[in-house]
Amino acid sequence: SQTDKELLYKIHEIASNFFQEQLFETEVGRTIGYSYFKERGLRDEIIKKFQLGYSPEKKNAFTQYALDKGYSKEILEKSGLSIFPENSPNGVDRFRERVIFPIHSFSGRVLGFGARILKNNIKTAKYLNSPETEIYHKSNVLYGLNQSKQSISKNNLCLLVEGYMDVIALHQSGIENVVSSSGTALTVEQIKLIKRLTENVTILFDGDKAGIKASFRSIDMLLSESMNIRVLLFPDGDDPDSFVRKHSQEYVENFIQKEAKDFIDFKAEILLKEAGDDPIKKAESIRDIVKSVGFVQNALKQEVYLKEVSNKFQLSEQSLFNELNVQKQLQK
Ligand code: UTP
Ligand code: MN
Ligand code: MN
Ligand code: MN
Ligand code: MN
Repeated sequence: SQTDKELLYKIHEIASNFFQEQLFETEVGRTIGYSYFKERGLRDEIIKKFQLGYSPEKKNAFTQYALDKGYSKEILEKSGLSIFPENSPNGVDRFRERVIFPIHSFSGRVLGFGARILKNNIKTAKYLNSPETEIYHKSNVLYGLNQSKQSISKNNLCLLVEGYMDVIALHQSGIENVVSSSGTALTVEQIKLIKRLTENVTILFDGDKAGIKASFRSIDMLLSESMNIRVLLFPDGDDPDSFVRKHSQEYVENFIQKEAKDFIDFKAEILLKEAGDDPIKKAESIRDIVKSVGFVQNALKQEVYLKEVSNKFQLSEQSLFNELNVQKQLQK
């Protein structure tokens, strides 16, 4: 309901302030949470800009704080921040002993949180995120959009990265036109949010298998929504965060400018590397690329791209066009 929603916004604002206070103003918060961000190279002003925080180890630190302020168990449970199991009537915090990344709406309200464990360990998920609630629908939200929207408009370009730290690290290095879908596969709703600001997207995903897979999927999604795209994979398993830590802003900007490819060259490079000299695999690669061309919405653009494929692989436009139509039939 509307009253619930207002309460949920309020609880998230209070929670975000609570986590920030824990980070800056408590002994454990400083020695564990703040030091963690420092070790990852973040400066104070960027920690504040993204309102990063820390959730203490105590079982119900936030829940107790919110109950004391008069919020009901029911609304706290709805917020996704607390649970009240039978055997713990005082509640249990969802986020414990993690660093906290508030997730903001376009206009800057806190909708939910991402929370990272401090030491990588295979038994626990690295990031824990808020569940779906009445105010948080993860498929409708892009991390960093609130902090990046002006720069996206100004540059008429949106950089798309995988993770929270990628957004933050790029901001710190002076590159502020960047958002992340944060662990969810890119959705149409998220693309529409970008489209309010620009039609140009450069995909900057992690240089690993998962990054490649996600980039292929995102390419087709973005083309279907008539976006202009370029794609770049970071070298040697780097992600934008690890990459900017090694290089200057100028170097990173030039690197993105120079290395971002159109989707045909990008897919060709990756697929043909896998295919080697095998003609069957090579044909499969070309079919895969033609399939993506099929997602291009504008007929003229589609023809231009098909010409590019034709030149690149020395194949007749007619046979590529036939293949395109076969692909379109398959998609129906
Ligand atoms: P990555 O595994 O690339 O993590 O996942 P990362 O962002 O580089 O994290 P750091 O640098 O180790 O801190 C990319 C994104 O996928 C989501 C998060 O949004 C993460 O930033 N993710 C990842 C989850 O939601 N849960 C996970 O367990 C892992
Ligand atoms: Mn809703
Ligand atoms: Mn990754
Ligand atoms: Mn990563
Ligand atoms: Mn990373």
